[in-house]
Amino acid sequence: MTKRIRKAVFPVAGLGTRFLPATKSMPKEMLTVIDKPLIYYAVEEAKKSGIEEFIFVTGRGKEAIEDFFDYSYELNAILGKRGNQEDLDAVNALVLDPGQVVYTRQQEPLGLGHAIWCARHLVGNEPFAVLLADDLIVSKKPCLQQMMDFYGTVGGNMAAVMDVPKESTSGYGILDVEGPQKGPLMRARGLVEKPSVDVAPSTTAIIGRYILTPEIFGELEKKHKGAGGEIQITDAFQRMLPSYAFHGCAFEGERFDCGNKAGFLKATLALSLARDDLKNVTLEFMKRIKE
Ligand code: UTP
Repeated sequence: MTKRIRKAVFPVAGLGTRFLPATKSMPKEMLTVIDKPLIYYAVEEAKKSGIEEFIFVTGRGKEAIEDFFDYSYELNAILGKRGNQEDLDAVNALVLDPGQVVYTRQQEPLGLGHAIWCARHLVGNEPFAVLLADDLIVSKKPCLQQMMDFYGTVGGNMAAVMDVPKESTSGYGILDVEGPQKGPLMRARGLVEKPSVDVAPSTTAIIGRYILTPEIFGELEKKHKGAGGEIQITDAFQRMLPSYAFHGCAFEGERFDCGNKAGFLKATLALSLARDDLKNVTLEFMKRIKE
């Protein structure tokens, strides 16, 4: 039986080049889907899954993220004076308690594996979650919670996975799945980061939710460079096999890749259609532009 997952790491130190020029002076994770920044959805998912400690790996120019999760004294005072309870509730819905949130810096964006390694002292010796804000997941039960429900039985390293079109495998970490799949869990006998279509071992792709064993820090410490010259987390999973099993968890829900423009647009439309105050106006507009 593995330990309970109490801590989550949010790597937010990337450059977000696919959203330039917007991300020149604004963190990608603060891009807003309707009225909440991407990082809000990820932190909300972690909180709903029972996470108690929130560790952000930030970088230069990411201060807006720290301010967002802080108590805004001036704004609260003004809204309070105006008696605007609805806005006050919205502003304070996801303020993290003192001591519940910590920030560390990745000084250079050397890759996701390196960003996670930067959190090693804050995580310590216990399994932990990692959430990438670019992946916005809409589901009944939070995706991370779904993974936690299985993690206790398998341990090792785990990531949320989904089936992707064959021509898209070069954008993901891909599993070489072992044996017949039992339920939503699939064990990997190998993994490869961003394989070209002709060598991809499957179409089962890793997306941005992980539960990791703390032993991964020892592997990341070696700072092996992989695809794109970056320190890739998928390569660490591969090197830790077979001593540390890797499982993909096929979650229930819809994932939007908000790290690219098309995915971001789809998320905005899907969430608008799910809201009473925006559904009709969105549908009417879509009908009009279709004509
Ligand atoms: P991405 O590779 O999607 O983000 O990393 P990016 O590099 O910022 O985006 P592009 O490709 O230039 O547009 C997924 C997550 O990992 C973080 C990013 O901030 C993002 O939330 N990340 C990535 C780091 O924290 N450090 C890194 O070195 C790389």
